Amino acid sequence: MNHFKYSDNNKRYYTLDYYYKHKFNSKVFKVSLNAGFSCPNLDGKKGTGGCIYCSKIGSGEFAGNVNDSLEKQFYDVLKVMKKKWDSNKYIAYFQARTNTYAPLHVLKEKYESVLKLPNVIGLSIATRPDAISNECLDYLEELNNRTYLTVELGLQTIHEKTSILINRCHSLDCFTNMVKELRKRNINVVVHIINGLPYETKEMMIETVKYLNRLDIQGIKIHMLHILKDTKLYELYKQEKFHVLSKEEYVDIVCDQLENLREDIVIHRITGDPKEDDLVEPTWLTKKFGVLNEIDKELKRRDTYQGFNKTIFNKTHQIIDKQVKQNDLVVDATIGNGYDSLYLLNKTTNGFLFGFDIQEEALNNTNKLLKENNINNYKLFLKSHEYILDTLKEYENKISLVIFNLGYLPNGNKEITTKSDSTLKAINNSYKLLNNKGIILITVYPGHKEGKIEEENLLKLLGNNYKDKYKIYKNTDNVKAPYLIERTKVK
Ligand SMILES: C[S@@+](CC[C@H](N)C(=O)[O-])C[C@H]1O[C@@H](n2cnc3c(N)ncnc32)[C@H](O)[C@@H]1O
Repeated sequence: MNHFKYSDNNKRYYTLDYYYKHKFNSKVFKVSLNAGFSCPNLDGKKGTGGCIYCSKIGSGEFAGNVNDSLEKQFYDVLKVMKKKWDSNKYIAYFQARTNTYAPLHVLKEKYESVLKLPNVIGLSIATRPDAISNECLDYLEELNNRTYLTVELGLQTIHEKTSILINRCHSLDCFTNMVKELRKRNINVVVHIINGLPYETKEMMIETVKYLNRLDIQGIKIHMLHILKDTKLYELYKQEKFHVLSKEEYVDIVCDQLENLREDIVIHRITGDPKEDDLVEPTWLTKKFGVLNEIDKELKRRDTYQGFNKTIFNKTHQIIDKQVKQNDLVVDATIGNGYDSLYLLNKTTNGFLFGFDIQEEALNNTNKLLKENNINNYKLFLKSHEYILDTLKEYENKISLVIFNLGYLPNGNKEITTKSDSTLKAINNSYKLLNNKGIILITVYPGHKEGKIEEENLLKLLGNNYKDKYKIYKNTDNVKAPYLIERTKVK
């Protein structure tokens, strides 16, 4: 089952195609153009020599011929595109080099000339965060009111050491401030990053995505580093032979990045598309569709999707989906407002659920929720879960899942919370209820005082019992965030 909401096919991430189709009710093409701009990292304003990976034509390999007018480039690209696909909505994409780096009247003339072309519904402008003047920002704001405007900002990495190595010549602060300036004006922001930059680890690449997640960005382009002929990067590669990611490593990293990325961020690109003649490494990059397929396959294998790591409940649900069959007997040991019970009962449609809570309010809320959903195959007990075994004695060895969601009742009295002593008793007693394949799922909340004590004691219990099998799942490195423990029955 695909849980991902921004998809109507096998994709488990938010594709640009899907976004355009739903926003504009039709397929939309980006027409790449080369407007002949320069770059402040070439002419000495910010630096010289450019970014070390950049090709001679400024990363605009598929843009038109710079010697032709923008209009001619536009129609030339359309001719080629029309052979393959049919569409009558276009976004003019100023791709090569730094497309806001010119006097305002030049920018205006170029942008306005393509906006006049038939069926052009918007502009996408690729640039550097240090190359948008205040007067340009004002103009972009005005433009944004008239057309569908996107500004694509190059970042590549959040790591300063790498940024210096690749000669980006702007800071992370500069980038972050420009995102804020553009968003103040309500302009869509797409960020370009590169995986596989020299000496970056997988963790560093994931950190870049986690950083971007916290910013108000609307899209991302993920590239694999191309080592192209005639670049400084190629010289560095010949000298230092730094590690180039294999296809498997790349796919693994991208899937991790997607799991960590907010689900509303549109994925404009997920792999590079270099011209074969210019490419030195990695050669697997020339088979773009192969890489895309591998990413789909890997997400399917993991049964995850973009945004999966947003909450630990996605993992809980993934385990429940695999574990609970329609005739199963299950227990919710902390019913609270009844959401876990509801999720379980939607799986065990012909089975039965037993629920426990010490608060009448919890029983009322859960009853209300389940009745609203026309569910009757359950029984709730107003008592502490430590009595679970006595209460359900006749179901010993018959239960396939017991769930604990520790802590206090959401929106309820925060003083009434699960307590270490009774929780440990309840977990041990639940163990005896499990059938051969049964599991216990416990969501731990170390973020509050009682929860921290509970967590420590729980880990002691699990650690001391050498027979026990348990797994820990965390969706973030925040030590205060809730996480999941799965305890399986040892045969
Ligand atoms: C975090 S909430 C559960 C949320 C719930 N799973 C849901 O989906 O809304 C924890 C619940 O455990 C209950 N609780 C605390 N001590 C308990 C105990 N000894 N036995 C059973 N429930 C207990 C609290 O009253 C609270 O409603």
